[in-house]
Amino acid sequence: MLHHHAILERKSILLLVLIIVVILIGGIVEIIPLFRMQTVIEPVKGVRPYTPLELAGYDIYIREGCYNCHSQQIRPLRDEVARYGHYSLAAESMYDHPFQWGSKRTGPDLARVGGKYSDDWHVAHLANPRSVVPESVMPTYGFLNHNQAEINKIGDHMKTLRLVGVPYTDDQIANAYNDAVAQAHTEDMDDHVAGLKSRYGDKVNARLFDGNPDMVTEMDALVAYLQVLGTMVEFPTAEAVKPQSAEAPAAPAAAHTPSAPAPAADKPQEH
Ligand code: HEC
Repeated sequence: MLHHHAILERKSILLLVLIIVVILIGGIVEIIPLFRMQTVIEPVKGVRPYTPLELAGYDIYIREGCYNCHSQQIRPLRDEVARYGHYSLAAESMYDHPFQWGSKRTGPDLARVGGKYSDDWHVAHLANPRSVVPESVMPTYGFLNHNQAEINKIGDHMKTLRLVGVPYTDDQIANAYNDAVAQAHTEDMDDHVAGLKSRYGDKVNARLFDGNPDMVTEMDALVAYLQVLGTMVEFPTAEAVKPQSAEAPAAPAAAHTPSAPAPAADKPQEH
């Protein structure tokens, strides 16, 4: 064995070729699974592409570098699940291009921040984080209240996302601008809101996010985005998955009664 290796070490070209072969094998082992990606990511009920307004908010999130301080990935570790809720599923970020998992938590994880606070809280917090969290080190983003959201070309952005696999329909792309306006301006727009919901589902949040009916602002877009984060998939409550529910089939209903408050999902269920 030693003898063979001595030969190899003396023939540098042969050694080089073999080194390249070994690296190629390593590369193939890493690359092949990516071609089978479609079979690896399991779609989960409820996950849909962002509405045009939410997509505009997602763009602002990236532009402002929120990901530098916030992650969007709850790991299946007990402390994270207790603090933030059910751990993130791959399917929940399958339409994010690029994904916003982040790698640093100066602030809290935002993967399930949707519905945690009111719109007013977000508007106040973004305008001046210290007004609601005195010790906060988060920068101020009050200018978002005065900037018009870029929704004129949001349909083009959706078309581009379709190229990389986000299943936007022609109908959704054709109505992108109207849907964005309808989502942030519900007054006198019942027909448009109905159209928006027919395209994206009844759960879509349509309201005056920033309280200003005169303009669709960047604040509207960013708050619409934050409010949908982590809300698309409905997870069973911790109560509903406890083993004793097997002997008492009616138990899941008990999770919704006020006398049985659902504890934090510290025993995550497999999906
Ligand atoms: C310099 C780091 C930093 C940046 C950049 C930053 N944040 Fe924060 N963020 C924080 C910190 C720290 C907190 C916790 C204190 C607080 O609530 O203000 C926080 C809290 C939050 C919360 C409340 C989360 C919760 O569960 O209580 C939201 C929502 C939020 N940030 C959104 C954003 C958005 C949107 C952006 C980009 C426009 C952003 N942040 C940019 C540091 C940052």
